[in-house]
This record gives sequence, structure tokens and C-alpha cells, in this order.
Amino acid sequence: MIQIAPSILSADFASLAQEVAAMKAAGAHLIHVDIMDGHFVPNISLGIPVVKSLRKKTDMFLDVHLMLTDPLVYAPQFADAGADMIVFHIESQGDPYSIISAIRGKGKKCGISLKPKTPAEAIFPYLPFLDMVLVMTVEPGFGGQKFMEDMCPKIAAIRKECERLGISMDIEVDGGIDVSTIGKAAAAGANVFVAGSALFGKPDYQAAVQALIEHAGL
Ligand code: DX5
Ligand code: ZN
Repeated sequence: MIQIAPSILSADFASLAQEVAAMKAAGAHLIHVDIMDGHFVPNISLGIPVVKSLRKKTDMFLDVHLMLTDPLVYAPQFADAGADMIVFHIESQGDPYSIISAIRGKGKKCGISLKPKTPAEAIFPYLPFLDMVLVMTVEPGFGGQKFMEDMCPKIAAIRKECERLGISMDIEVDGGIDVSTIGKAAAAGANVFVAGSALFGKPDYQAAVQALIEHAGL
């Protein structure tokens, strides 16, 4: 099923509850929350108290993307703060199976993300244990970057492997998604689309969400 996931990295943080409510009213399916620690990526975004506050203000599904060095330490804290799904990076520290168990132990959905230089095969062993794979289509750290079209074969390879294993997987793409790129990611096999600047940057959120859905062509 196609899902549109606005990234609050591009939202007005002083009006976060209203921004998220507006995206819900606009027909967005979930909210993407980018967590950056200034180590794993060269930027700092928001942390556990913000997720906790947001949880009190919205019933939308919170897809929390951890761009941090030590997910084993912090994933359970984001789970307690109210995340619905936690996505960690395969390039982070720690044993992926232990991190998956820590997230599952909190009763949360679990995903793994890959940076652009990481090959699809790096996550193949974990596919049976995941709800979602997040393919970065920019170098993580900042919104507003250009979609890397050369990530499409990686999306396709992950979709193909999931089909071979008989797993119905959500494949999410993150970075540079707009009306001109969403169709390429969808054709390659993605079905969950993160968008920051292409949604929060627009005056009419409903029109922006609809435009993405139409251009996905799914
Ligand atoms: C980048 C973040 C993205 C980012 C996407 O590290 O993970 O979620 O906010 O922003 P746009 O859609 O503007 O590329
Ligand atoms: Zn993200």
C-alpha cells in the first residue's frame, strides 16, 4: 500500500503539533521523525523529549528514523517516548539482531536503513525480522538534497529479495522525493515515501500530498 510520510525536519518546530495535525488532515499516512546526534551525521535535529511531547498531541503513526551512533542505547528510549516504528542504520554500532530484539521487546515495529554507499546485500540476513527497509536516496543529515536516482537498482534488488523470500515488506525511500522523483522510486519497488521540503515547503499541504500520490503512479 502506498504511504506518504512527511518528514518533520522541514516543519516549523515552534508549531509542531499544528504542523502534524495539518498533515493528518491533508491525508498523510504517517509522520517521519528524523533523529540526528551530530556524530553519525553532521547535524543535530531533535530528541526524546520532542517525541514524547508530540506523542501526546497526535495519534498518527510515528516512524522514527535514528541517525545516531548507538541505537542499542537509544532505541528503547525512543520506544518509551512513543515511537510506533524505530528504524536504525545498518552502519551504526552494535549487533543488528540485538537492536532488533530491543525494539521488538518494547512492542514496536522495526526497520533498518541503508546509506547510499551501503549495498542492498548488507541487510539481506535481517529481512525476515523487519517490518520495513529504508533506502536513503540522499546522504543522511539534511533535508532539501537532490534525489540519487542511482539508488533505484538497490530498491529493486531489495524488493526482489523480499519476493524471493515470500516476505511482504514495506520499502521506504527518504531524500529528494518530490513529484518529479517519486515515480522512479515507486517503479523500482518502494511503497513508503518520505518527503520533507516537497510537503512542508508547500502552501497547500493537501494538494502537495495528493500530487505525490498521483505521481507515484502505484
Ligand atoms: C535526511 C532525512 C530526511 C529529510 C528528507 O537525512 O532523513 O528525512 O528530512 O528531506 P527532503 O524530502 O527535503 O529531501
Ligand atoms: Zn529520515
